[in-house]
Amino acid sequence: MIQSFNKINQIKGEISFSGDKSISHRALLISSLAEGKSRIKNLSDNDDVKATIKCLQDLGIEIDSNGEEVAVNGRGFKGYQKPPNQLNASNSGTTARLLAGILSAQNFESVISGELSLSSRPMNRIVEPLTLMGGVVKSIHGKLPLHIYPSDKLNSITYEMPIASAQVKSAILLAGLHLDSESRVIESRQTRNHTETFLNLNVIKEEGKIISSVSKKNYPHAKDYFIPGDVSSAMYFIVLTLVAEKSELLIKDVSLNPTRIKGLSLLKKMGGNIQIEFTGESNKELFGNVLVKSSYLSNVKIDPKIIPLIIDEIPILAVSGVFAEGAFEIRDAGELRVKESDRIKSLISNFRLLGLEVEEYTDGFRISGEVKKTVKPFNSYEDHRVAMAFAILSCLLEDGGKVEGFESVSKSNPDFLQQLKSISS
Ligand code: S3P
Repeated sequence: MIQSFNKINQIKGEISFSGDKSISHRALLISSLAEGKSRIKNLSDNDDVKATIKCLQDLGIEIDSNGEEVAVNGRGFKGYQKPPNQLNASNSGTTARLLAGILSAQNFESVISGELSLSSRPMNRIVEPLTLMGGVVKSIHGKLPLHIYPSDKLNSITYEMPIASAQVKSAILLAGLHLDSESRVIESRQTRNHTETFLNLNVIKEEGKIISSVSKKNYPHAKDYFIPGDVSSAMYFIVLTLVAEKSELLIKDVSLNPTRIKGLSLLKKMGGNIQIEFTGESNKELFGNVLVKSSYLSNVKIDPKIIPLIIDEIPILAVSGVFAEGAFEIRDAGELRVKESDRIKSLISNFRLLGLEVEEYTDGFRISGEVKKTVKPFNSYEDHRVAMAFAILSCLLEDGGKVEGFESVSKSNPDFLQQLKSISS
């Protein structure tokens, strides 16, 4: 589907977002493990989170919604039932990888499969550590489907992460949650910490490394959760407000977890008028309000250390860079190549349509020059974040623009178009 966007003159108003995608997955998975009923408010309603719900239902977990909140009837330690069929993670990497960690500690055989885009993404990154733990997880060519068999030799490990990935870290922690002895994951670059927060894990910093420990002692109990709004979804509207003229937007009850707001800090460094107000916390997850006003932006050097913490925001940060003074350059971000699309390729081919000067590196890209008129539609490459980034860019072009394959936005934010309409004139 091709979606057209007209130039937006002004952004004004207030907006809130449905629950953060990463936190929603974890709330569901962890509630399914705890014995008894957990209630979740503001759970995300996107396709990825729906995939987690469906997999858990196939594992015998009752999940009901009354429109207000979602109730998960967890079955307790090793209480999942053998699924009647393959578990379909759809296109959700978080579903496949986190669930693989849990399933490697269960007493039955299971298979995780997925749709086309997820089936081309790397799975060896979880197969290797889970195998080191004594798990029996098999994949052909390191891709889905994953065949997971019961193991009587599951053991704890200390694992130093070779790549910065919260999904890999979480898979190991969720497997380790089923063991009496302590497993430790060591990160040299910090990644989002929702799994650690949910399980109340002991996390220490030692010689610049972050060490998270887990064992059966951390096994969860049923709880009530409020999921703060998705800050990664909010970033598109934040950039739009900053670049549009005479604009102001208040975002309410959005996640302000420190491992998720480095994109906001970067925009502030670029000159963005962004005020952050912390208003509360739910299960140690901070949230609050963000007030954004039109600003003059200049590109700055991006510290490689923060790349894992802004990895999902790079498409929209690159769009902000196009409207900022100077060149936008991102390095040390090779992980972009294994997201829903090869985001380095997807972004640069769209930026080229605008007549920008673009340089491609194995681990990033550089964009400079003036935006020229584009007659061709941008391509989403079936990647929700590419679709939303170029929707925002289109709204900032004199003649507007079009995005092909725009339906992919439902992966993370099915409300995007309606939200855009509600704040723009
Ligand atoms: C996620 C972690 C990130 C991120 C993804 C969600 C998570 O992936 O890109 O959208 O919920 O743990 P990696 O940890 O693999 O980089």
